[in-house]
Amino acid sequence: MNNIIVVASGKGGTGKSTVSVCLSVALVQQNKKVLLIDCDCGMRGVDLMLDVENEILFDCSDAICGNCKNREAVYKSKNMDNLYIMAAPFDADNEINPDIFTELVNDLKKDYDYIIIDSPAGVGSGFATAMAPANSALVVTNAEPTSIRGAVNVRRKLEKNNIKDIGLVINRFDRKTFDKMDCYYDLDEVIDAAGIRLIALVPFDIRINAIMQRGIAGLNWSPATTVFNCLARRVQGENVPLAYWGE
Ligand SMILES: Nc1ncnc2c1ncn2[C@@H]1O[C@H](COP(=O)(O)OP(=O)(O)OP(=O)(O)O)[C@@H](O)[C@H]1O
Ligand SMILES: [Mg+2]
Repeated sequence: MNNIIVVASGKGGTGKSTVSVCLSVALVQQNKKVLLIDCDCGMRGVDLMLDVENEILFDCSDAICGNCKNREAVYKSKNMDNLYIMAAPFDADNEINPDIFTELVNDLKKDYDYIIIDSPAGVGSGFATAMAPANSALVVTNAEPTSIRGAVNVRRKLEKNNIKDIGLVINRFDRKTFDKMDCYYDLDEVIDAAGIRLIALVPFDIRINAIMQRGIAGLNWSPATTVFNCLARRVQGENVPLAYWGE
């Protein structure tokens, strides 16, 4: 995949922020330097996940408005070298202009191997801003019709924006629930409905919530982290298996 990746979904709560953080961590563990930009204005959470919530003085809207220099709004993770974050503003009214956001990312991109942009839910202006500087995308979905509909809407918008390098992440997958729901015959039908090539199949894994609640310091080995390591390799173009570790 290309090196500026927007993580989007359409439907809320599919796991965009979790995928953004776990992919960033996996890329850093594979010796890449990563900037994770939280683009979810008003609903920021990535600073909590990376344990830097008390450090943040400036967010990306400060950089954009000129309240600080661009690099003053970038913070290093306490837990990992080579992992950096730019936080979203707390204020939901703080809409960020897509062109100015693109200028910001273009200025910062020379410092990093990968920039991961965590998009807000929906396909409105927040998503338009998040995808503006991206040259590739991960669409995160759960294996259910409402979520797939969001993925299709997102894919169409990405394609309109000339982003063709797109991978589908099916997250929180649980075989028993999937079979009981009986909405799709098999996973191929889910992938066909989304119209996006599958790049990761992440199991439902309760331990992954530790990242949300305790930050990445609490991130130990789990079935999902194994999949995220494979996702990071696939993002870099390696031909490795999906490594689904669920039941
Ligand atoms: N693979 C997984 N297994 C179990 N729980 C998960 C998994 N991925 C995410 N979750 C949980 O699902 C919830 C929503 O995840 P997350 O906040 O990453 O979604 P989101 O798409 O970023 O949401 P929003 O649309 O609000 O930004 C969180 O409680 C998270 O811990
Ligand atoms: Mg989120």
